[in-house]
Amino acid sequence: MTEIRIAESPEQLSEVAAAFFVETARLSIEEHGTFTVALSGGTTPKRLLRGLVSANLDWGKVFFFFGDERNVPPDHEQSNFRMADEALFQPLNIDKKNIYRWKTEIGIPTEIANDYAYRATSFFHGFPRFDLILLGLGTDGHTASLFPNTKALFEESKIAVDNWVEKLQENRFTLTFPVINNAANTAFLASGTEKAAILKNIIEGAFRPNDPPARSVSPQNGILYWFVDKDAASQLSK
Ligand code: 6PG
Repeated sequence: MTEIRIAESPEQLSEVAAAFFVETARLSIEEHGTFTVALSGGTTPKRLLRGLVSANLDWGKVFFFFGDERNVPPDHEQSNFRMADEALFQPLNIDKKNIYRWKTEIGIPTEIANDYAYRATSFFHGFPRFDLILLGLGTDGHTASLFPNTKALFEESKIAVDNWVEKLQENRFTLTFPVINNAANTAFLASGTEKAAILKNIIEGAFRPNDPPARSVSPQNGILYWFVDKDAASQLSK
């Protein structure tokens, strides 16, 4: 099942997404005592995370993971962890034991990925089923760090891998489709006219070989949400 929610502005998009985050968290905590969420990187979620600081949630029962990470130290300006740490974790004084970041300081890409997979699998006592996975959307149709023409797109068993991205000339770290598609709730956030063409392609385009990676996000037993603003939705059929 897929739900598309269109907000009037980037500000309203973040408010709507924050309300969804809180509602999903409350239901998960009510249902099984915890809320597990994989955060997305990039710039779009920053306003959402800041908006969550004022939310009334039992944060001690919320466990944060990251859908992907750059190959940089945790205090680097490009770090997805640093973005979330500054926007949400520090303001709420989130306990470090509730945060599962990619330990890029390990230094060796495959070991960083294996360490993350081990810690996530240990936390879930098996194959991870996140209550919520937040995803962004690149103009090339990438999501997390699942970029077009990269090996991670074809990973069918590992939950977390290192992924060389030729066009960026850098290693990235990403959750894979098997674990993304195993989530109970998966929510894309897309904002701005620069995302309009790729959004139309993914939501309305015909399936064909070499599709944009985000097209492969298809929850097996969960709900897929698109939270977009009017600019991003401007090319969708009315
Ligand atoms: C990352 C992300 C990536 C991001 C998209 C959209 O680490 O960059 O996880 O998938 O979500 O590139 O980024 P913007 O929100 O900055 O457009």
